Amino acid sequence: MKALILAGGFGTRLRPLSCTRPKMLFPLANQALLDWTLRRLADGGVDTIILAVNYMAEALVRYYGPTKFDLGIIYSREERPLGTGGPIKKAADLLTDGDPFLVLNGDIISNINYRRLVEYHKEKGGLATIALIRVPDPSRYGAVELDAEGHVLRFVEKPEKGEAPSNLINAGIYVVEKDVLDYIPDGRKVSTEKEVFPILAEEGKLYGFEAHGFWVDIGVPEAYLEANRLILESHREVTMGERDAVDESAEILEPSSIGTGVRVGANSVIGPNTSISDHVHVGQGCRIENSIIFQGTTIGDYSSVKNAIIGENATLEKWVKVESGSLIGDYVTITDGVTITQGVTICPSKTVSESILQPRQVM
Ligand code: GDD
Ligand code: MG
Repeated sequence: MKALILAGGFGTRLRPLSCTRPKMLFPLANQALLDWTLRRLADGGVDTIILAVNYMAEALVRYYGPTKFDLGIIYSREERPLGTGGPIKKAADLLTDGDPFLVLNGDIISNINYRRLVEYHKEKGGLATIALIRVPDPSRYGAVELDAEGHVLRFVEKPEKGEAPSNLINAGIYVVEKDVLDYIPDGRKVSTEKEVFPILAEEGKLYGFEAHGFWVDIGVPEAYLEANRLILESHREVTMGERDAVDESAEILEPSSIGTGVRVGANSVIGPNTSISDHVHVGQGCRIENSIIFQGTTIGDYSSVKNAIIGENATLEKWVKVESGSLIGDYVTITDGVTITQGVTICPSKTVSESILQPRQVM
């Protein structure tokens, strides 16, 4: 079976972490987000991946090459972004007539059972079947109205608060028959969610399959941290590169993942729920919990990072505090004694030398 993965687009909120990689390559427990998905697809009976790429395409091509986890990987390059539907149309020649295929948003982490989804799709005999997940607030997603037979009666993308037909949302994972390509206009940007699903629903050809388990779209900092926590929890132990570089008096609390070439100074405490990428240097007396630190970053003595994401090659000098859903972009410098809290976003390469205590984006 083939799977087409939508791996283009910008990912606005997490963009400050994208200097050298698209969000599909962001680390979760020291492995790229998409690695987790590819491994599960290989286990779920998929043999070939069509990676639909545009933004930072070459970073993906360089990272994966022609094969990974025994999957063949074919790249479908868009000259300009074709949205979520255009890439499916563009892949027409790469898809096999008569065979249904999977379509996946690339920015999702989940343990949805692909085989069960495909079986359900075949039983129902529709043109497409969407995996659905129940969430408390559907307004960031595509919400559906489902009947007792599993028909999607209505599909509403990004419903206003209070106007969603239900709390069941599109998990960004579908099984699609090739005939659906007839519903997608050629040669332009198309939104599957706004232009294709509503029509299929109206014609009674769209089904929904409620899935259970964990599911996160990593699109905003809180969700990315949650995804990291879920992955670490499902692999309880602390994973570590070279142990020598961690001072004897430092403590690593599980679950956490520490890359290779990481240095940790005396009396620092790291974890739980923390991923530290390769070549990160942590000084002495630091506290890092519930956080993700990208590669090559330096965290100076007596600094603390809680519920935050720090991009690559950033520098936190000494006595710095970064907290509460804040996001520090790649190559940023935060100088001595500065506090960043309350969901502040700092764009790449900035130097910040004054504390920021209210939600804000520093451009
Ligand atoms: N190849 C390609 N080209 N991929 C794209 C493009 C493009 O022009 N634009 C977006 N993508 C990819 C993104 O990288 C992402 O993996 C996926 O398509 C969905 O785009 P997002 O921008 O992340 O959409 P969303 O999260 O707001 O909403 C979508 O996902 C929700 C589930 O997380 C919708 O499908 C919702 O209906 C759904 O509930
Ligand atoms: Mg998304």
